Amino acid sequence: MSPFQLTRTLPEDATDAALRADVLQGLTRTPKTLPPKWFYDARGSELFEEITALPEYYPTRAEREILLARAGDIAAATGARTLIELGSGSSEKTRHLLDALPELETYIPVDVSGSALTAAADALLAERPGLTVHALIADFTRELALPAAPGPRLVVFLGGTIGNLLPPERAAFLRSVRSLLEPGDHLLLGTDLVKDESVLVPAYDDAAGVTAAFNKNVLSVIDRELGADFDPAAFDHVAVWDAGNEWIEMRLRARAAFTVKIPELDLAVPFAAGEEMRTEVSAKFREERVRDELDAAGLALQHWWTDSGERFALSLSGPPARR
Ligand code: AVJ
Repeated sequence: MSPFQLTRTLPEDATDAALRADVLQGLTRTPKTLPPKWFYDARGSELFEEITALPEYYPTRAEREILLARAGDIAAATGARTLIELGSGSSEKTRHLLDALPELETYIPVDVSGSALTAAADALLAERPGLTVHALIADFTRELALPAAPGPRLVVFLGGTIGNLLPPERAAFLRSVRSLLEPGDHLLLGTDLVKDESVLVPAYDDAAGVTAAFNKNVLSVIDRELGADFDPAAFDHVAVWDAGNEWIEMRLRARAAFTVKIPELDLAVPFAAGEEMRTEVSAKFREERVRDELDAAGLALQHWWTDSGERFALSLSGPPARR
């Protein structure tokens, strides 16, 4: 078998149908919402890469610190022969992990972007010619069917992206990951931690305005894909800390009253002056909440690793030992 295989479980037009459904649903309800997954076209992915280098945006650096410090512990605790990475993107941070896993035979990156998967696989295979890479184009928030691969298996979901799911979506996601795991398999999960608002808000509202551009980029995606006439300049970027839910909320606030036309949906969407549309939640966690949510999905927390500033955590969990 060739060392690289690309499998598509998403039909070519599934993204288009999902975008239409999300936009129709989100813009006809009160308050208006858009799901954060539509930020990431080529421009949005570029802007996100810029965000990760901002002085205010600590999560990427904090997570990298943990991965570097703990890669050996993770390898020892899991003995993984297969690494499955959900939302792999460029597979950049995974490099540390791949280098630390001596038993690794198979790498399964899963992403909605086929171009990101192919580029990442090419780069990896150049470095690890013996590795079998089976890339999967799939939306892991919907369905997760994995190719057969040797155990023990390690599923990793990094970046704190689980925080972009709402609590019921999170519960469903963790249950679906659990259903893929057998005793001896593991989940490595990255979660940003609750901290002072004075640190959290600037991380989502940076001085250079990169996060504002990232937030408004979702409007350009809808303009391009659905023929809409959103003017990104007609909205202000808003980032607020919701202390009750312990999440950061990004919103776009209409600077005036206007109506946006979305021809592909046969829709006209009125905005009031000052009206706010939610574009992302980014939940922040405490150890207890992570433990409880894993537990509810049938996963037992085994290790909890934080960076030196206790800003971010990696947790390792797995199906409870059979007895
Ligand atoms: C890294 C994708 C989880 O919630 O921090 C960055 C995306 N949004 N700035 C996060 C994001 C605004 C992000 N994820």
